[in-house]
Parts: sequence; C-alpha cells; structure tokens
Amino acid sequence: MSSETGPDENVSDENLPKEQGPAHGEVARKDDPFADPGLPPHEHRIQDVDEQAAKRSERTVAFIFTLSMLATIGFIASFVAFPIDKIIYVWPLGHIGALNLALGLTLGVALFCIGAGAVHWARTLMSDEEMVDERHAITAEPEVREKVISDFKQGAKESALGRRKLIRNTMFGAVALVPLSGVVLLRDLGPLPEDKLRHTAWKKGKLLVNENTNQPLRPEDIAVGSLTFARPEGLEHHDEDFQTEIAKAALMIVRLEPGDIKDKRELDWSHEGIVAFSKICTHVGCPVSLYEQQTHHVLCPCHQSTFDLADGARVLFGPAGHPLPQLNISVNKDGYLEAQGDFDEPVGPAFWERG
Ligand code: FES
Repeated sequence: MSSETGPDENVSDENLPKEQGPAHGEVARKDDPFADPGLPPHEHRIQDVDEQAAKRSERTVAFIFTLSMLATIGFIASFVAFPIDKIIYVWPLGHIGALNLALGLTLGVALFCIGAGAVHWARTLMSDEEMVDERHAITAEPEVREKVISDFKQGAKESALGRRKLIRNTMFGAVALVPLSGVVLLRDLGPLPEDKLRHTAWKKGKLLVNENTNQPLRPEDIAVGSLTFARPEGLEHHDEDFQTEIAKAALMIVRLEPGDIKDKRELDWSHEGIVAFSKICTHVGCPVSLYEQQTHHVLCPCHQSTFDLADGARVLFGPAGHPLPQLNISVNKDGYLEAQGDFDEPVGPAFWERG
C-alpha cells in the first residue's frame, strides 16, 4: 500500500521501515522479455514515518466508529420515538412511514461506519508489509508417491486379488458388463430414421388434395392471387402416421400470372402459373402461411423469413438458409393437378442437408 505523500523528511533513516527492493527483479535479465519483473519499490505511508499522522488516522477511525455507535443509539431511539403509523412526506420518495425511514437510515449509517472505519484502519495503520507467497510444486514428493504405491500394493495383497482368481475374474466381468445396460436403453430412443427424413409422401401421379375441402384440386379451383394448402392423395387425417407425414409433405399452392414468374425452372414445374412449394419453413420448420398477393412474397410468422414465390421462393429476408423446395406439378388426363414426383431436395430446416 502507498500513501499520496512521501515519507517525512524530518524522520531519521533509522526510523524508516526496511525497503522491500525488487528481489525477484534482480534475477530478471534485460534480454529476457518474460523474466519476472519483481515488485516495484515499496513506498511508505505517511503514517509509517510520521507518528503525528498515525495519531490523526487513529482519531479518524475512532470518530467513524463513534458515528456508528451514535447511529445505533439513534436506531433504538427511533424505535421508541416514532409511532408505527406515522406517515411523512419526503422528497423524492413521497409519503412513507417515518419509523421505517428512521430505522433504515440509522441502521444503514451504523453498518456503513463500521465498514468505513475498518477500511480506513487497514489502509492507514495496519501492517504495510508486502508478502510474496510462492506456489508449491504440483507433483507430490517422492516419499508421498512411494507411500501411495506401497499402500496400494498392501491393499491388493490384503484383498488376495492375485490369489483368488475366480473372484478377480468375475469381478472384472461384472464391472465390464454394467455399461451394457446403458447401451440397451438406447433402444428407447426409437427406431433409426433411415431415409424417411429424406422423402415425403409425394410420388409421381399423386393428386393434390385441398386441405380444407378434402377434394382433389383442379386448376380452375385456384384463382390468381389465392393461397391454397394441399396434401397428397391417400394421406388421411385418421392415419396413424398423419402428423409425421404431413410435417414433411404439407404443400402451399398459389397461382401467378405466368409472365410474373422470373425463375425458369419454377415456370417449367408450374401449370398455367400454378406453383406448389413446401409449406415447411427452411429455417426451423414453422408452417409458412402469410401470403402477400401483390408482391408474391410469403412470410413465415415464426422469425419473419420472407420468400419470393415469383422467383423460385428465394429468401428475401430473415434467418432461413435456402429457398422453399418446389414440387413439380402437372395436370392428369382427368384434369386434376398431380405431382410429377417427390421434392427433389429435403424439405424443412438445414438439418436435412447434413446427412
Ligand atoms: S421458422 Fe420460419 S423463419 Fe424461423
């Protein structure tokens, strides 16, 4: 610790505490930038070299502790003096209980003064000696290591592990087999997904069924500017795996003016401006459902990813990593919209791209 003023020049050298020089710095070499720089020269506090200054600090500390005592007496007096229901106005706190205010203030001052007095005492009057505590070596002493090894050997000898081979071997077998219990529990994680995550219920010739009317869709059912949701023919709500399959196969159909379609492949995979895209957002899989017919933008409500349905469902905004997959559609001989195959890429979040 150091003081703001230097040592008193009137004090003789014998009275000065011994300097702590740069003991470690002595071993530092100028050409070694990583050498221990040692401690800076010690600066004496005024209280170390001037008895008058030390007395002043002592009185200051005593004064602060006295304030604490007075505050505690004030706390007790407040408790007696203020009725519990007395309300006073104090700016800027407003109307508050006088007793609570008095108790809080006096107790706060009492505690603060104890702390402040202790800190001032430590900074000005307590020992100012700087200590260096060297770290000890991490490795154990050779005697300790020998003791541990000999204890281990002694334990092994006393347990007769070497002699009782039957016990030893069965114990090793028991310990080795226990982890297999954990392996068996892996079965409860469910069957392996195999390639189910890569394919949907869409196949060549599957009709597009309107999700609301449950009827196969014809081109004339879809007006320009409308948004229709569809599922594959044969996938029914009561099917056991309906939720699993619709989570991959959900389809979003819009009708654009063919001239508005900018992407050539999108145009090739459309029918008279009717385009079908996966409804599953490529960010984290929310259903995309907010369609803006003037701009042909579709918005995912979860994190606002925005896709341009007139340009291959390109991502315009938001965290989605890639466009919505498009389903190649056409019209069969009976005049119904049908798929020309499965999506040619995994639907949904980027998870699918990893495998
Ligand atoms: S899930 Fe669509 S933007 Fe996040």
